[in-house]
Amino acid sequence: MRSQHRVFATLTCAALLALTGIVLMSSGAAQSVSEQPEMTFWHPPGPHVMGTPRGPAPFPYDAARWHPIHFQPAISQATNAQCLACHQEVVAQRVRSVTPAGLRTEDTLAWYQTLEVYEGEQETFHRRHLVTPMATELMNLQCTTCHQGNDPREEASGGAADTQEGLILRKHVDPNICLMCHGKFDYEVMNLPGPWHQHAEMFGNSCTGCHAAFRTTRHDVNFLKAEAIEAAGERSADSCYGCHGGRSWYRIAYPYPRNAWPGMPEAVPEWARERPTESQERFRTHSESTPTAGATAGSQ
Ligand code: HEC
Ligand code: HEC
Ligand code: HEC
Ligand code: HEC
Ligand code: HEC
Repeated sequence: MRSQHRVFATLTCAALLALTGIVLMSSGAAQSVSEQPEMTFWHPPGPHVMGTPRGPAPFPYDAARWHPIHFQPAISQATNAQCLACHQEVVAQRVRSVTPAGLRTEDTLAWYQTLEVYEGEQETFHRRHLVTPMATELMNLQCTTCHQGNDPREEASGGAADTQEGLILRKHVDPNICLMCHGKFDYEVMNLPGPWHQHAEMFGNSCTGCHAAFRTTRHDVNFLKAEAIEAAGERSADSCYGCHGGRSWYRIAYPYPRNAWPGMPEAVPEWARERPTESQERFRTHSESTPTAGATAGSQ
């Protein structure tokens, strides 16, 4: 009982504070800009609408920051347009042409940015994955492909009974997502004698030569454009290699799911025992197929 009273008292206090806030805000004309809370001018659907005045009134910063769209389960349903309503900056902002120290952008290139496959001027991380020509040709990344919701107050799951599941320690995005396209080229499982850049010629500089027979059920996921990828791969193995070793920011390879393909041998190789037999559920564009015999889906 007593704790309920305390909760009630706290809530009343909070409500009073909020009211004071509104009063302060409405007399805001007299205040300097820096004293005012930051505002966003977008009204998301949901309970907040009830608490805000009708019409195009400002949306308080904290309500936007803590809007349920940032957290599960709402975030998994969110569209790019909904996120961009508040976060235009992630695609609108461009890199500086000169660093604050005075170095010109075109003189400060990373080694991979000097390669032939690196197109155009330097771009921000988000633009490289969402709006550059290569991004739109081969990929269909959504905000929520990478962002699954992080709780800015609670950064690890399991600290209390009600913490969000799947939090990834101060990171906004699970690095395993990046690893799918930025892992090492796994020549061992392909029975190749060594890294691709040393042996590509032996295989006619083609991935699709072998991969017309192996693992042909591929890229059937909602963040990739499977047909465009095959077309690009026919033109040049570099396109395939770009996501499978050519931009490896990691020293490990991603353990890809092993989707059954026509003519797949019955026996599961030793290295593939623990592999999932389906792409992650949230990425799938097809309905679940019958699990293949022998493979113990490590799932996730
Ligand atoms: C109602 C406006 C609004 C919407 C809609 C919105 N955000 Fe935000 N978001 C904010 C505000 C405000 C912040 C705090 C920004 C800051 O402090 O710099 C924020 C912060 C973030 C952060 C940084 C989190 C951190 O821990 O620092 C990420 C990532 C983010 N939003 C992603 C998203 C994604 C993805 C979506 C769509 C699912 C989305 N947001 C929708 C307003 C919004
Ligand atoms: C390819 C994966 C990926 C995609 C797609 C993506 N993001 Fe991010 N986003 C990231 C990463 C990684 C960070 C930096 C996280 C960190 O610092 O821990 C980030 C950071 C952010 C932040 C925090 C502010 C900042 O600039 O650091 C916001 C806001 C944000 N993203 C919004 C979005 C929105 C909106 C979309 C869709 C239009 C989107 N992101 C798409 C990976 C992605
Ligand atoms: C679906 C595949 C895919 C995923 C997932 C992905 N990337 Fe990328 N990434 C690419 C491609 C393709 C490019 C090259 C785009 C281009 O050159 O226009 C790229 C480029 C980059 C670059 C180079 C940017 C530059 O302009 O120099 C960095 C850094 C990067 N990715 C980091 C990440 C991180 C970190 C994550 C996870 C948060 C991530 N990527 C997730 C495919 C992906
Ligand atoms: C000599 C034939 C051959 C060539 C050339 C080849 N691969 Fe493979 N690849 C294989 C075989 C065999 C497997 C494993 C098949 C299985 O799962 O049983 C494989 C598996 C893969 C996998 C899945 C790895 C995993 O851990 O599940 C990817 C991704 C892949 N190849 C990409 C490529 C790319 C990209 C190229 C070109 C840069 C390429 N391959 C060139 C034969 C080849
Ligand atoms: C834009 C990035 C990108 C490009 C380009 C790309 N891949 Fe992939 N590839 C991926 C991702 C991400 C996955 C894992 C998808 C999933 O979870 O099912 C994957 C999975 C695979 C697999 C495993 C398929 C399975 O489910 O068993 C093979 C084999 C493969 N790719 C070969 C290729 C070949 C060959 C090319 C060129 C024709 C290519 N990739 C081009 C990103 C890419």
